[in-house]
Amino acid sequence: FAVQQYKVLSNNVAADVMPVTFNEKENKVETSNTKWWCSGFFPGTLLYIYEYTKDAEIKAEAEKRLAILEKEKHYTGNHDLGFMMYCSFGNAYRLFGKPEDKATIDTAAASLSTRYRPSIKAIQSWDSSKNFKCPVIIDNMMNLELLSWASDNGADPKFKEIAITHANTTIKNHFRPDYSSYHVLDYDLTTGEVLRKVTWQGAADSSAWSRGQGWGLYGYTMMYRFTKDKNYLLQAKNIAKFILNNPNLPADKIPYWDFDAPNIPNALRDASAGALIASALLELGQYSNKKEKKEYVAVAETIIQSLASDKYRAKLGENGGFLLMHSVGALPFKSEVDVPLTYADYYFLEALLRYKKWYL
Ligand code: GLY
Repeated sequence: FAVQQYKVLSNNVAADVMPVTFNEKENKVETSNTKWWCSGFFPGTLLYIYEYTKDAEIKAEAEKRLAILEKEKHYTGNHDLGFMMYCSFGNAYRLFGKPEDKATIDTAAASLSTRYRPSIKAIQSWDSSKNFKCPVIIDNMMNLELLSWASDNGADPKFKEIAITHANTTIKNHFRPDYSSYHVLDYDLTTGEVLRKVTWQGAADSSAWSRGQGWGLYGYTMMYRFTKDKNYLLQAKNIAKFILNNPNLPADKIPYWDFDAPNIPNALRDASAGALIASALLELGQYSNKKEKKEYVAVAETIIQSLASDKYRAKLGENGGFLLMHSVGALPFKSEVDVPLTYADYYFLEALLRYKKWYL
């Protein structure tokens, strides 16, 4: 299904841009330039499809998209280089082992490392603006994969040191006693103090924005993979507890867009959070005892089954060519609300491949 559907999507996207979402009213795939934080997901998803099917057309499409993305290895305008360059070139190098792809990853890691701020012991997510002095968002945990992988594979060891320091600072400052996380922390670069703990995409400063909880779960599971630091494993398991025991997690295990959304049970779901949580739980299961593994894998299975059902998965040829419907980008800004999103597809296929590799 993904092979056929992504050929539809590929035909809907001009050669110099990347898909973002589908505008149903205008019957048009919305696209972005390669600096948008999601630019690595389309090539990454194509590579996951190729990995499973070995379809030559899909491989050729992935290569074309990697070629337009490659220049962003020098980009330092945000913290998203990990999403952009590791989900794409990381997978390409894993599958094909081309030295030039590894060089791209190393350069991207160096670019991302320029955003490390020693005074706050963290990577600055977005540039300062009228809203924030030095914002660090929970999503940033995901970009540590690029840094850690690069150092573990011959690049400067300082990249991984930065990743570890960022992960430690995030444990210290970003979480509440119940292991839910704030979305944005604003730091003072002079004193290193946390000025405010707020939200940007969530329902309230005090709420648990669902995708943010997923980024944290995935981030600490992944950092345990690279470091074997038990604190990270414990953090991931505690985040998993918050998500899995949450009274607002629906029976089909696809979260509302925020665990504290005002109109639950009528709030919108976020398929992207579901896909990401499924993929993370499958990895966490690899580092867990029998009982925990059983619970994590059972929830991941339910998520995968829900996403694969008619409720979330598009019909062939529809949805602009995206696989999944019903994700939420940024509801407070009325942006990308109840739509397909490129990263929902990416983490859904990643979860399916992980399930096949580890649990079938
Ligand atoms: N990293 C941005 C988001 O999750 O929407």
